[in-house]
Amino acid sequence: MQIIRDLDSLRAAIAALRADRGKIAFVPTMGALHAGHMALICEASARASHVVASVFVNPTQFGPNEDFGRYPRKEAEDSAMLEAHGASLLWLPPVEVMYPEGHATTISVSGISEGLCGASRPGHFDGVATVVAKLFNQVGPDVALFGEKDYQQLAVIRRMAADLDFAVEVASVPTQRDADGLALSSRNAYLSPEERIAARALPRALGDAAQAIQAGGDIGAALQAAQAALDAAGFASIDYVELRDADTLAPVTSLSRPARILAAARIGTTRLIDNLPVLPAA
Ligand code: PAF
Repeated sequence: MQIIRDLDSLRAAIAALRADRGKIAFVPTMGALHAGHMALICEASARASHVVASVFVNPTQFGPNEDFGRYPRKEAEDSAMLEAHGASLLWLPPVEVMYPEGHATTISVSGISEGLCGASRPGHFDGVATVVAKLFNQVGPDVALFGEKDYQQLAVIRRMAADLDFAVEVASVPTQRDADGLALSSRNAYLSPEERIAARALPRALGDAAQAIQAGGDIGAALQAAQAALDAAGFASIDYVELRDADTLAPVTSLSRPARILAAARIGTTRLIDNLPVLPAA
């Protein structure tokens, strides 16, 4: 696996991959890789002849009081995992390559970026959309893979790629979970053993609410019950528990189309997010 840190070398390496059998699948990450990321790499391998991954802890998607400084950085472990899973190239841009002196352009995807995580993390999705657009231009992939755990991020990136005419297919992979249901996340490393046990309440509360709604139960009551379950489990603050349209993320008051139940809440100082599909009766 090639490890590349400057743009000229990246362009030359991508041109060589293209000359050698063609199709490129791209998995952008912020590192601290786990089995969830490896599911993206496996799906990427199934879809293309070459897999390119990036690791860049993007400063512009963290708010001033968020965890940019303590976000886990594990370059050696990350590259070993990527190599073992067959990636061809690891793009590791330093911050001054990604945001050179004088960088002044930001991409803002209105509508779908607002509400949910956009409400509690102002500017977050501008940072995500901007860095992903830059990564798409740098790597020029045929297909890019994103996890469904960051469901609003996936929707923002799909909108951005369509609106800016990127010739890339944005594909998604279902959330990978530990045996107790907790969604895999690099931020799970912040949880104490007690918090880790309490965190199981998040997928359980969403699962119970999704089942109740699919069975025809009242949507408001199911969302309130999920909030109460999170409170009881010791979640310190709940940013949202909401039912949204699976494609547009518009609020849903009756289940006539595929929907998604989404939540964000803090356990101790760690903010966790999760979501599940909620489907109307066939
Ligand atoms: O999901 C992530 O890891 C990041 O938000 C992404 C898409 C790599 C952009 O920095």
